[in-house]
Amino acid sequence: MKLIEKIKDRSAQIGVVGLGYVGLPLAVLQAKTGFSVMGIEEVPEKVDQVNQGNSYISDVSGADLREVVERKRLLATTEFSALKGCDIVLICVPTPLTPNKEPDISAIVRVTQQLAQHAHPNMLVILESTTYPGTTEEIVLARLTEEGLTVGENLFVAFSPERVDPGNPQFKTHNTYKLVGGVTQTCQEVAKTFYEQSIMKIFPLSSPRVAEMAKVFENVFRSVNIALVNELTLLCDRMNLNVYEVIDAAATKNFGFMPFYPGPGVGGHCIPLDPYYLAWKSKEYDIHTRFIELAGEINENMPYFVVSKLQRILNQRCLCLNGSKILVLGVTYKENIGDPRESPATKVMELLQQEGAHLTYCDPFAPNLMVGDQKYKSQPLSPTALQESACSLILTAHSAFDYDLIVEHAPVVFDTRNGTKNVKRHRERIVLLS
Ligand SMILES: NC(=O)c1ccc[n+]([C@@H]2O[C@H](COP(=O)([O-])OP(=O)(O)OC[C@H]3O[C@@H](n4cnc5c(N)ncnc54)[C@H](O)[C@@H]3O)[C@@H](O)[C@H]2O)c1
Repeated sequence: MKLIEKIKDRSAQIGVVGLGYVGLPLAVLQAKTGFSVMGIEEVPEKVDQVNQGNSYISDVSGADLREVVERKRLLATTEFSALKGCDIVLICVPTPLTPNKEPDISAIVRVTQQLAQHAHPNMLVILESTTYPGTTEEIVLARLTEEGLTVGENLFVAFSPERVDPGNPQFKTHNTYKLVGGVTQTCQEVAKTFYEQSIMKIFPLSSPRVAEMAKVFENVFRSVNIALVNELTLLCDRMNLNVYEVIDAAATKNFGFMPFYPGPGVGGHCIPLDPYYLAWKSKEYDIHTRFIELAGEINENMPYFVVSKLQRILNQRCLCLNGSKILVLGVTYKENIGDPRESPATKVMELLQQEGAHLTYCDPFAPNLMVGDQKYKSQPLSPTALQESACSLILTAHSAFDYDLIVEHAPVVFDTRNGTKNVKRHRERIVLLS
């Protein structure tokens, strides 16, 4: 087949729609593989950055991006007409929730409309955005076939979820199993051949729906297990037990147990959102996914638990939240990365603001932060800043923090991430989640 030949000799033109945390690394990977890549992005500033070789995603090195841009392997544009010249299109746009926690697939719909205008025979379209089972066929395929193309004959459509773990130094896209579910056997074959050029391990599946379900299930699994350990933390707090000691003890069993750790909530663009995609879809089948709802409820309660425990900590020192200076350490959703999306720190800070606390924060990965309508700037971590605060509250345990310094100078440290686990001196000043 012509398209397979074009893939194998790298003459196929690739289009990546959405140059964010998923799309930009993927575009660079394909360009480094030897393909000519067109990045289509609706934010003009991102387009300019890419074309100047400036990376705004921590998992993409500036050197890698500059190299592919200078060699003219990657070009970004806001123009959807560029899709006309693409043989393969990878859709990597966001899939957020509405305020009522229902799927908002409007970006996928908009891209599909644009794609339909520029679709041509022998095109491979792959959806990489995380979404509910059925989206690829019900939304993308349905619209594209209205253009007179026939799936499996002159149009190839598949779902292949991105599974990147931002900041993970060991596992990147190229060495993580790539799930691929094509609409037909031929779609599967073309999509598999495409990914084989750049990714070490491909895991073919019988349909896009299975691939969509597998991706959401992975994130439901994490959400449920984190909720389980968060619930255990509430109990350990009441029973005056150290939850980390309990987890470490259970983890000595070398089968049938996998440790998960508690925290002030869940964050990022995946775990707090994706499970609700499945919960929404399942209602169409008269199934109410109670695990998903329960996990969401427990995880979303954690910021409230952190604030009430902080109140207790201050109360024991004859202080109250109203008027107290609280120094927040770490505001991104996970350690050592700069992504603030859905970070539980924002929720905790919002609740602390409501109680009248005076907030400052320090985060080497997030120079600025909006909480409600208030703008904050990251402050340097100094002995004076620590001493002047009633409590230092660790919400994200970046490894760049000097935990010995923090514990040495803060009157009390409320550590919601066990970042201080290796600190030896003044442990009496540390309060853990439980
Ligand atoms: N971030 C992760 O760790 C991760 C991991 C696996 C899967 N995912 C999934 O991948 C998808 C993308 O996530 P992300 O983190 O890259 O999001 P992102 O917000 O970082 O990037 C999406 C990009 O798409 C652009 N965009 C939005 N609508 C557009 C449109 N209509 N046309 C062109 N560009 C448009 C945005 O401006 C943005 O630059 C989501 O479905 C997400 O759930 C994310």
